[in-house]
Amino acid sequence: MTCRQPLTPVLRQLTRTTSFELGRQSSRSQASSLARTAAKASAASGSRRCFSSSQPRPLKATASVRQAQSKDDFTSTKYPEIKRDERFASLTPDHVAYFRRLLGGNGSALIDGVTGEAADDLAPFNSDWMRKYRGHCQLVLKPSSTEEVSKILKYCNDNLLAVVPQGGNTGLVGGSVPVFDEIVLSLGRMNQILEFDEVSGTLVAGAGVILEVADQYLAERGYIFPLDLGAKGSCQLGGNLATNAGGLRLLRYGSLHGTVLGVEAVLPDGTVVDDLSRLRKNNTGYDLKQLFIGAEGTIGVITKVSIQCPQRPAAQNVALFGLASYENCQRAFREAKSQLSEILSAFELMDEGSQALVHQVTGSKRPLESPYPFYCLIETSGSNVDHDSEKLQNFLESVMEQGIVADGTLAQDETQLRSLWSWREGITEALGHLGGVYKYDVSIPLSQMYQLVEDTRARVAEAGLLGDGEEHPVRAVVGYGHMGDSNLHLNISTRRFDARVEQVLEPFIYEWIAERQGSISAEHGLGLAKKKYIGYSRNPTMVGLMKQIKRLYDPKGIMNPYKYI
Ligand code: FAD
Ligand code: MLT
Ligand code: ZN
Repeated sequence: MTCRQPLTPVLRQLTRTTSFELGRQSSRSQASSLARTAAKASAASGSRRCFSSSQPRPLKATASVRQAQSKDDFTSTKYPEIKRDERFASLTPDHVAYFRRLLGGNGSALIDGVTGEAADDLAPFNSDWMRKYRGHCQLVLKPSSTEEVSKILKYCNDNLLAVVPQGGNTGLVGGSVPVFDEIVLSLGRMNQILEFDEVSGTLVAGAGVILEVADQYLAERGYIFPLDLGAKGSCQLGGNLATNAGGLRLLRYGSLHGTVLGVEAVLPDGTVVDDLSRLRKNNTGYDLKQLFIGAEGTIGVITKVSIQCPQRPAAQNVALFGLASYENCQRAFREAKSQLSEILSAFELMDEGSQALVHQVTGSKRPLESPYPFYCLIETSGSNVDHDSEKLQNFLESVMEQGIVADGTLAQDETQLRSLWSWREGITEALGHLGGVYKYDVSIPLSQMYQLVEDTRARVAEAGLLGDGEEHPVRAVVGYGHMGDSNLHLNISTRRFDARVEQVLEPFIYEWIAERQGSISAEHGLGLAKKKYIGYSRNPTMVGLMKQIKRLYDPKGIMNPYKYI
């Protein structure tokens, strides 16, 4: 199966959903009408409400992407303290000739800026999704088989050429693009779905398969990919594993450390590690595949993936609530877990700042009549429509009666379901449209989670950096995230990247998190952005063990240098 050309933008037009406001009717009658809507919605949905769209969608280029780039944008200029490792060789025409012979005459398998002019073609491989990091890569290689990956890596290892594996290049920590002149190894041509077992739900696929393509393939067979995220139209399975992506339904389907059954990977010396097991249980020695999950391309290249996929839920419902306080969001989560238990598949948090930015960028009509300080998006996924709607009705009634939720809207069909999701999924892209973003993806105990946003906002304001006019680099400090996983996304939206902002934010945020025993990276990884801050979340013994693993697998250090640890 090859990937099709994606077309549809991520931010979809919001169609109006049914909304109820407390105060207009008694909470009891309101709860009942909302509950009736839930029942109607479930009935109308029939037996299936699938969430994947018909085509994979690439993320739209951000406003900053379209801006002309200057030499100041290079990572090496912005961070002069990072020095090129002089052990690495520089690319020569002889190296390029070797790769050209290896990958065949097919011009599309190689972008060569060493022996010719290819600046425009190289540009997208050199810049990350946020336009925060930019490298000087002169050669992109696009192998189509494990054997080619193996030969490329062996040659690079023998000749001390540094390599950056790249999937969909949607990573948010600067891990997927080179810093200097590293070769980009792009996995996009390894995009075959190789096997699917319709009884067990085991999928085996090439690392370059786009996540949404895999999910569509599964949808046609009654299954679902156990990971979903806003970048699904562009990111690839190999990249998902390499970052141990979390996404929107980790609450339900768990981490990739649990769902991935097997991995095929190539080590820097060309050794093919065939651990492409299809078994759920296999206690024969160390579980080495786990090392590649979350390794961010620092110990080898993932070439194939075997993953356990659950049955696609027959019934899905989505509701979006407005809440007056973060305290109420916590109460709503507690109630959702206790009342919706096994059908709860997502519990997401958005603050008003994040929703105002989505509105500013899309111009879409907002789902609720008035703004609220906080919003929670709840999704249920189950196998029995009647059972699910009854549970949801009871839940809605209860949170309204208790005054936890101030306003709510429930999707009545799939279009509305997607529309509600777009207010959550679209935040990242909206932020990208508005300029530079400093992103912090953190795990903190739920009770303290939103305090970080408030403290950061106060600090940036005190420094005189936050405000409406052009003279203020910071437009807004917003928070959203996977509340069900205690994972907050703190984002500082700027009019332009400004070193003063970074100095106010770091290490302040990392210290704040360390004091509360949180993690400085819940799901995006370390990449370049967090390499030097790992000590805030991991003790010296752990970091030491990680460095030993890196040295064992990649003794010459050619894999994704300058990043991770
Ligand atoms: P890339 O960005 O290309 O690479 C990421 C890292 O993996 C790099 O270090 C790269 O070297 C390495 N790598 C890539 N492919 C391979 C391979 N085959 N073998 C070895 N190493 C490899 N992340 C989440 O966790 N949850 C979210 O909800 C989420 N939502 C997002 C929404 C948007 C709009 C965007 C832009 C990003 C989001 N992300 C999220 C971040 C990102 O999409 C994920 O990290 C994704 O898994 C990266 O996949 P990719 O194919 O784009 O990898
Ligand atoms: C998300 O949950 O939307 C993603 O992790 C991306 C982001 O943090 O913006
Ligand atoms: Zn996330």
